[in-house]
Amino acid sequence: MYLGFDLGTSGLRTILVSEGGEILGSEEAHYEVSHPHSGWSEQDPAAWIAACQKTLNALRAANPAAVTAIRGIGISGHMHGATLVDKNGDVLRPCMLWNDTRSAQEAAKMDGTDGFRALSGNIVFPGFTAPKVAWVAKHEPEIFAQIHKVLLPKDYLRYWLTGEYFGDMSDAAGTSWLDVGKRAWSAELLEKSGMRRDQMPDLVEGSEAAGMLRSSLASDWGIEGPVTVVGGGGDNAVAACGVGCFSEGDGFVSLGTSGVILAAKECFSPKPESAVHTFCHAIPNTWYQMGVILAATDCMNWLSKNLGPTPAELSGLLGPTISGPSDIRFLPYLSGERTPHNDSRIRASLIGMDVGTGHAELTQAVMEGVGFALRDNLEALKSTGTDLKRVLAIGGGAASEYWVEMLATLLDMPIDLPEAGDFGAALGAARLAIVGVTGADPKDVMTGPKVAKTVSPRSEFSDAYSEAYEEYRALYPAIKAIKK
Ligand code: XUL
Repeated sequence: MYLGFDLGTSGLRTILVSEGGEILGSEEAHYEVSHPHSGWSEQDPAAWIAACQKTLNALRAANPAAVTAIRGIGISGHMHGATLVDKNGDVLRPCMLWNDTRSAQEAAKMDGTDGFRALSGNIVFPGFTAPKVAWVAKHEPEIFAQIHKVLLPKDYLRYWLTGEYFGDMSDAAGTSWLDVGKRAWSAELLEKSGMRRDQMPDLVEGSEAAGMLRSSLASDWGIEGPVTVVGGGGDNAVAACGVGCFSEGDGFVSLGTSGVILAAKECFSPKPESAVHTFCHAIPNTWYQMGVILAATDCMNWLSKNLGPTPAELSGLLGPTISGPSDIRFLPYLSGERTPHNDSRIRASLIGMDVGTGHAELTQAVMEGVGFALRDNLEALKSTGTDLKRVLAIGGGAASEYWVEMLATLLDMPIDLPEAGDFGAALGAARLAIVGVTGADPKDVMTGPKVAKTVSPRSEFSDAYSEAYEEYRALYPAIKAIKK
């Protein structure tokens, strides 16, 4: 038996999987993100541990015999978070998350420094780890001075599980300290950031062993053991393992808190100026490219918080099929934007409302704004030479048939919807553990899901959505010109 942890932004999902990859149980526990100032986004790592305990206890209660026989654990985590620990392994401050943009100045400075783009293959975005730690050096020097290790969120959870400091290449690729082509920490980038190599954990590939479950935890949870904890990876890479996406031409669109269009790559071919991310995959000798928007379902959460009905109730107002774009435009930059603008200061806009505008119209506009932003991401990917002919839809937002049909039309490609529940990253994590413990070929374990339904573009609406998209594209520079 194997466990897959998916340490997400809003909660932790833990699944229990058999050696054949069958899902035997799944539990979730939620936690908060705090935004003490505009652009700040933080989480208390203790909440991840509490969630881990809670899901494990629930899994054990429901599947006692299977839990006893656990042999491996894989972990996926939200990327880029800076979890700073002192020499005792104690957390020094709340973790600054991937969508925390306070370090825009530090990021711009690093991004303009020779070596960063060339070695890391990416723009140094404000949400990435290195500029956030540089922010700590400047604003919280007493904390900076105590940093013993910088851990990504899932690597902190692993530290708690095993007592050992390890990281993996796919997550480390989002720090701006990794030589992404060589899959190794870059001495040059660390030095240019004022960091030491010994402050970084050692790196393994996603399916390599990275410690053993502490015996006290194994006995608390009733596991006979020994249990190997593998490297795991950043959430998008591990979700790709969960849906069998690692060959050239494979891709997915993810409608989670953030939005992603991801394409697997068999070689390292970065194009940082496009604001596309190029990271190591969680399996050896493989990379991926992706466009990232900082708010996808987060836009629906924001709307729901303000209007009252839940996101599902709001999207339910639109019915299952599209009937052309609305006249209202929404720019989904609630937390700034990464691809294609790399602009941490831009904020969201709603344009074109009238007295008849109500919940349904606002919901449509918000979903369309996210759709247009993802189309921007597809165009950015195309500019690097990446060509996707169809994608799989994953993430909570993919439950909306309306949204998926709109995306198929906007991206002008068929979108496959997986059959079973949305286990992407948790399943990918468990699969990495299976490969790590059994030595199986990743290609045999990380198969694609059964497709429940393929949603085709509605070509009769293509021209109307293309016109609306052109209008949307014109709005960013216009708003930028007045709101500097
Ligand atoms: C990827 C990114 C997000 C987070 C949270 O670069 O920032 O996808 O990993 O999901």
